Amino acid sequence: MPPDPELVTYLKLHGQEHLLRFWEELDSVARGNLVREIRSLDLDRLDSLIHSLVLTENGDSSLPPIDRVKPIDVRRLPRTDAERVARRQVAEIGAAALAAGEVGVVLVAGGSGTRLGFEGPKGTYPIGAVTGSSLFQIHAEKIVAAGKRYGKPIPLYVMTSPENNQSTSDFFATHKNFGLSHVRFFVQGQMPAVDQSTGKVLLAGAGQIALSPDGHGGTLKALAQPDQSGVSCLDEMRNLGIRTLSYFQVDNPLVRIADPAFLGLHRQAGAEMSFKVIEKQFPEEKLGVVVSVDGIAQVIEYSDLPPVLAERREPEGGLELWAGSIAVHILERSFIERLVSEHSLPYHRAFKKVAYINDSGTLVKPSTLNAVKFETFIFDALPLAERSVLAESNRSIEFEPLKNATGPDSPVTVRQQMSNVFADWLEGAGAIVPRKPDGSSEFAIEISPLYALDAVELKSKLAPGFVVEGPLAIR
Ligand code: UTP
Repeated sequence: MPPDPELVTYLKLHGQEHLLRFWEELDSVARGNLVREIRSLDLDRLDSLIHSLVLTENGDSSLPPIDRVKPIDVRRLPRTDAERVARRQVAEIGAAALAAGEVGVVLVAGGSGTRLGFEGPKGTYPIGAVTGSSLFQIHAEKIVAAGKRYGKPIPLYVMTSPENNQSTSDFFATHKNFGLSHVRFFVQGQMPAVDQSTGKVLLAGAGQIALSPDGHGGTLKALAQPDQSGVSCLDEMRNLGIRTLSYFQVDNPLVRIADPAFLGLHRQAGAEMSFKVIEKQFPEEKLGVVVSVDGIAQVIEYSDLPPVLAERREPEGGLELWAGSIAVHILERSFIERLVSEHSLPYHRAFKKVAYINDSGTLVKPSTLNAVKFETFIFDALPLAERSVLAESNRSIEFEPLKNATGPDSPVTVRQQMSNVFADWLEGAGAIVPRKPDGSSEFAIEISPLYALDAVELKSKLAPGFVVEGPLAIR
């Protein structure tokens, strides 16, 4: 049976009729799947993205004129005793929100993790330096521990992709949700990859479009998407009395989830979306920077930041645009509700290597970049927030993401930094901890959040005279 003539006309209108090239070779099930995939594409929207981001020379340049880009006001880390006392008071506001059950946690884990090159969802990676606990386990145990501390279990919402949803939920099920009382998985949307020189949608198989997750900005839409029983995550949160969301990404095991001080700063300011930032170390560092453009906060991705801006310095010598985002946010549920009903986040392009079926039906695995993927970014919601707080955090304590298989941000650096943080906690609790000549921990150390969520808790539990004599795991 030939394809529906209306579908053929629709595809021709958009220059994508090649998607039916292998129609004759497909059985009826494969044909049905292909038609469903094609119908799920918004080809009008795709046309304009291909036109503006693929076929236009200068592509993704949403950058404002550089003289309008200014540094942003950031709540610095407390440096004096008075500031430390004030921060502890602010943390009480966050603690009260947690105790009232008004806070939920959103963990985004829908990415493909191509740079790490690990089989399976990145969250299942055994990153624990001693026991090989997974990223998911570390995050989940922090949430369980925080729920116990504040006397109210904290619900977790995990964003997956169509590709990794099953394996992710199976992993949680195998581990009995790591003791969490409420976990809900929600699946993000997808976008097709297109050939970077022609803008044609790529086929991953004879009857299959090359689809990939639509970026972490897809979180907002996906939270509003009803499930089979018609209830979205946002609906559920409303019913549970959750007003504020602690958002983080799967790759950073040092993240402070539902940090009461950060929640407190956010709430005290009546903010709709808040960011944790760290000081960029050098101009080319691959961190998006939070800046002010005509008084409105926004993020410029590192790849879009022109050197003339990246290198601009303060009179004292520091970088002027120093506030690097570590993708740790607080969002008001009401802000997301407003955003999904009134706005859509802009798409950005990403050049990638994408395997595809060529005209003669052969699978091509390119060794160079051949395709453009379209993604939205969560930080593009920032300018839409009426109020926001940018809170400085301490890089060495809170940020060491797992991105690459080797080199920076790889298992080796992440495990070492986790051990260093735990070594500091142990020393703070009076233990003797061997160090390498560069000051890092000599031994691998792992402390389960279920034993101690932070240095203060460890100090209250550790026996006097504790000596680290080799790799150490405390649970
Ligand atoms: P990255 O930008 O590091 O992308 O995602 P990635 O897909 O995980 O890895 P690479 O680039 O292919 O190597 C940062 C965070 O955003 C999530 C990821 O799971 C990670 O927690 N993310 C990214 C999504 O949830 N969905 C996406 O579409 C993209």
